[in-house]
Amino acid sequence: MTNNVVLAPETAVTESIVVDRLRKSYERPSGGDLTYAIDGVSFEVPQGKFVTLLGPSGCGKTTTLRCVAGLEQAQEGRIDLGGQVVFDAMGKRYVRPEDRPIAMVPQSYGIWPHLKVIDNAAFPLRYGRNRGRAKDVRERALRMLDQVGLAAMADRWATQLSGGQQQRLAFARALLCEPEVLLLDEPLSNLDAKLRAQLRQELRSFQEQFGVTALYVTHDQSEALALSDKVIVMNKGRVEQIDEPQRIYARPRSSFVADFIGSANLFAVQHVSRPGPDGGVVAETGIGAVLCGESAPGARGGDGGFVCVRPENVQVRTAEGERPALSDNEFLGTVASSEFLGDRLELVVRSGDVSITAFARAGFACRPGQEVVVALDPGATRYLPD
Ligand SMILES: Nc1ncnc2c1ncn2[C@@H]1O[C@H](COP(=O)(O)OP(=O)(O)O)[C@@H](O)[C@H]1O
Ligand SMILES: [Mg+2]
Repeated sequence: MTNNVVLAPETAVTESIVVDRLRKSYERPSGGDLTYAIDGVSFEVPQGKFVTLLGPSGCGKTTTLRCVAGLEQAQEGRIDLGGQVVFDAMGKRYVRPEDRPIAMVPQSYGIWPHLKVIDNAAFPLRYGRNRGRAKDVRERALRMLDQVGLAAMADRWATQLSGGQQQRLAFARALLCEPEVLLLDEPLSNLDAKLRAQLRQELRSFQEQFGVTALYVTHDQSEALALSDKVIVMNKGRVEQIDEPQRIYARPRSSFVADFIGSANLFAVQHVSRPGPDGGVVAETGIGAVLCGESAPGARGGDGGFVCVRPENVQVRTAEGERPALSDNEFLGTVASSEFLGDRLELVVRSGDVSITAFARAGFACRPGQEVVVALDPGATRYLPD
């Protein structure tokens, strides 16, 4: 499911990476059905953009990245890098990793402990595809170390660097190759939360400054949302959605995406009818009829599917009087739990058999057992397919 945008020729963007219907199984074919680690993955990354493969552990992110790097070969599909075909299962073309215009930053940094910082940085310039003249290698490596704030440590052993500094060294070394494409597999996952947040911003600014295209792998949704021009959400070897972070969050296409990114209320739908020309639908759910302002593509109505609404789009007010007047998308419920999160309350409200999570302001007075009215904002309530 790629979101191909057709552009006029004069505005056409050049794609640094094109991955087309890639399928890879680690099993050997023996007559039976193969299970695929990636199963028909397609996407494009325009030059200079930062695109992230996001999904739970085992969904095929690393396999996809390693296929782009040439460290794995797929059974089906095609990969172009910088306008060159580097892999084509049909045409039997396979370009070796060292001949692809890439640099890779692995999870473990790939730093050599027996080398000094400067020699780690300079390694690809001495031995790689971009071998340079011996004299300016040290100078170039030093300049790069300076850019990532490590110039003062150039002559220390690599093992004397902290985790964050080793990560910067790994970026520096990758950027020194002047690759068309930077491939990063969970590069921040060994760092503590605070350092991770700081380094991801540094990483993004290096990437922009050097104008390199980045394909980044993470299972951390906040990292993906914070860093990316586009996010590719993967599940079980397939692409679920490709979109800008804001759209992935606000307009998920599937219950998987809604649930994996942020927190979402998902109510099972018994039946759906279309009331009007505005694109909205009315979905029968366990809490009653819910008006959904939007339907995800592929949600055709009829039976099944989910209503999706995020906690920040659910308003809660105390139910005054015996029979509070309910408007559209308002439902009566009972507070099941209320948790103080510092800046807000997280409430769980039971309505019939359904639990609804909502955020309320920190000072909102309510206690478990209390009757409340929950109101779902129809503009932010989506109908999703099964
Ligand atoms: N070298 C391998 N041999 C066999 N199976 C593998 C190998 N690498 C990955 N897999 C399997 O392929 C699937 C996708 O793995 P991977 O690409 O590493 O996922 P992710 O990076 O999203 O966690 C998983 O089911 C995993 O067990
Ligand atoms: Mg992985």
